[in-house]
Amino acid sequence: MDLLDRLHLDVPVAQAGMGGGLAGPELATAVAAAGALGTLGLAPAAMLGQAIAQVRDGAPGRAVAVNLLMPFVRRAHVDACVGAGVDVVVLGFGIDRRLIERLASRGVFVLVMVGTEQQARRAVACGADGLIAQGCEAGGHLAGVTPALSFLPHAIRAAAGRPVLLAGGIASAADTSAALTAGADAVVAGSRFLLTTESRAHPEYQRRILAADKTFRTTLFGLGWPAPHRVVANDATRAWCSADGRVALIPRLINRGSGLLAKLPDSVAAKTVGLQTGRLPLFSPIAPTVGMADSSVDHAALYAGETVLRLKSVISARQAVAELAPGGQ
Ligand SMILES: Cc1cc2nc3c(=O)[nH]c(=O)nc-3n(C[C@H](O)[C@H](O)[C@H](O)COP(=O)(O)O)c2cc1C
Repeated sequence: MDLLDRLHLDVPVAQAGMGGGLAGPELATAVAAAGALGTLGLAPAAMLGQAIAQVRDGAPGRAVAVNLLMPFVRRAHVDACVGAGVDVVVLGFGIDRRLIERLASRGVFVLVMVGTEQQARRAVACGADGLIAQGCEAGGHLAGVTPALSFLPHAIRAAAGRPVLLAGGIASAADTSAALTAGADAVVAGSRFLLTTESRAHPEYQRRILAADKTFRTTLFGLGWPAPHRVVANDATRAWCSADGRVALIPRLINRGSGLLAKLPDSVAAKTVGLQTGRLPLFSPIAPTVGMADSSVDHAALYAGETVLRLKSVISARQAVAELAPGGQ
């Protein structure tokens, strides 16, 4: 299958869907209009259908993709995707055979992000049309446990001819070329697109990750979803983590027992960041977005991949696509 034809792409580049409001319709539209795959991050179900329509209007003739961040997905999200006729769905951090079958029956192209060969085999067995192989250098939550280029051959083997996109460590045309040479069909970038003018990351969040000299893996921001994630340091991690990201006992225990919070209604979940002051070790996965108080960057997750150590500035999404395209600048 020619992935570029199937997904109406000019270049083998996809923007990662980043939830919690980071990757909204402005970013997905700009990326799609530039010829790459724009992806909406998971948003409240009531807003998703409208966001899909906005991308379709802003980038006519291009595919619209939605990331379904599985621990937080409810039936209404899926109904919104199907109802709005989304072209591509990316499943992250969970594999659900019935969901994949439902999407496939409506002609949706289903990609599943995986971090191990076992996950890759399961995704294929459940009907995935293609895989996203995530490496451990990625920003945000981590399925990946090995560097992306080391994991890629395992994912390609498991994919048995289906397309494989590589995520983690992609910040330049040279990274894209290396991934394609190693057998990937396309690349997925998150951190690069987080650092664009169209992302809804809080400007101080963008400044902090550009200034960082280190990223690390932790589980601190795990209230409701205690899965590992890659961040840069802030007051919260300095107070509650060791230098290598290991979380102090109290927040670790709180996070472990908080699984049911992932099922809170969207409106309630969005308010949890306001409760994060650093006095109590309650740290949700929601990252600082435009409109939040400046102080949120001290107490909320500053997700970032290893690439931020070599990224220099916030640029337009169009420029980011141009810089990531093979042979691009
Ligand atoms: C700020 C941020 C938020 C993310 N949110 C999500 C998400 O909601 N769902 C998901 O499947 N992956 C998410 N990811 C992971 C991306 O899908 C992707 O694997 C990762 O960004 C690739 O690594 P990179 O950041 O080095 O480009 C996120 C990544 C970042 C940096």
